Amino acid sequence: MTHTLRRRTRWWSVSGALTAAALASVAITAPAGADTTASEPTSGAPTTKIVGGEPASTTEYPWVVYLTDSGGNQFCGGTIAAKNKVVTAAHCVTGGAPRQITVVAGRDDKTTDEGVEAEVRTVWVHPEYQSASTGSDIAVLTVDRELPQTPLPLATQQDNALYAPGAATTVLGWGTTEEGGGPSRTLLQAHPPITSDQDCSRAYGGQYNPDAMVCAGLPEGGEDSCQGDSGGPLVADGRLIGIVSWGNGCARPGTPGVYTRVSTYQQEVQAQLG
Ligand code: ARG
Repeated sequence: MTHTLRRRTRWWSVSGALTAAALASVAITAPAGADTTASEPTSGAPTTKIVGGEPASTTEYPWVVYLTDSGGNQFCGGTIAAKNKVVTAAHCVTGGAPRQITVVAGRDDKTTDEGVEAEVRTVWVHPEYQSASTGSDIAVLTVDRELPQTPLPLATQQDNALYAPGAATTVLGWGTTEEGGGPSRTLLQAHPPITSDQDCSRAYGGQYNPDAMVCAGLPEGGEDSCQGDSGGPLVADGRLIGIVSWGNGCARPGTPGVYTRVSTYQQEVQAQLG
């Protein structure tokens, strides 16, 4: 897989204001000292801030879904983990006014009506969840029908090798293609390698809890998830290893993306999958 930044950016402009409002309502609280607002790269940073993605398809990744609010705006991602169950980030489904959430499966391009829409019936949020930066950023949605897409298995405590520093990953989402930019119209993927606990602690200090989280990114930045990707899958070897959770900006050098460490929560989540 190449890391070349060669994706042509496509801007989603029609409902920009609404989408921005939807994103703001789910944006996590930044860790102390973190700057999650758009800013110019410091010297030495890549000249482009585009999150180094490339097109992906729900044909290849059938279990990746997005969540829309009552206005039909995409605000987060998720993963089908059982016929009528979607795993997402707790911060996607808490902390705001109660929202009417729809799960959209099998639709690559938000402007089409491909695939299936399912209404969320119940929401389970990890009992210890307080905020993304304190961990347990995981939730299970039960939807009103059985989805035809193949579910993705969760990583277990036996899958430690998938979390080895430098290990390959795939992260998927419809979020912003650059820090401070607009969301993607179509599904994108990026391949940030797993970051060591030491490097992630260096980036985030005490905010990084290696039991609850795992980081992924290139030392030089350039390839990352971003706003609107939250709740979506970080995958390795056909398993859900992480959930897009938080980070300092997007794709910056030295500050990788932070993901919920799924293997830590596998037993509790599996119990919710029925
Ligand atoms: N909190 C963001 C969201 O709600 C996800 C941020 C991920 N940031 C990163 N640099 N990987 O969509």
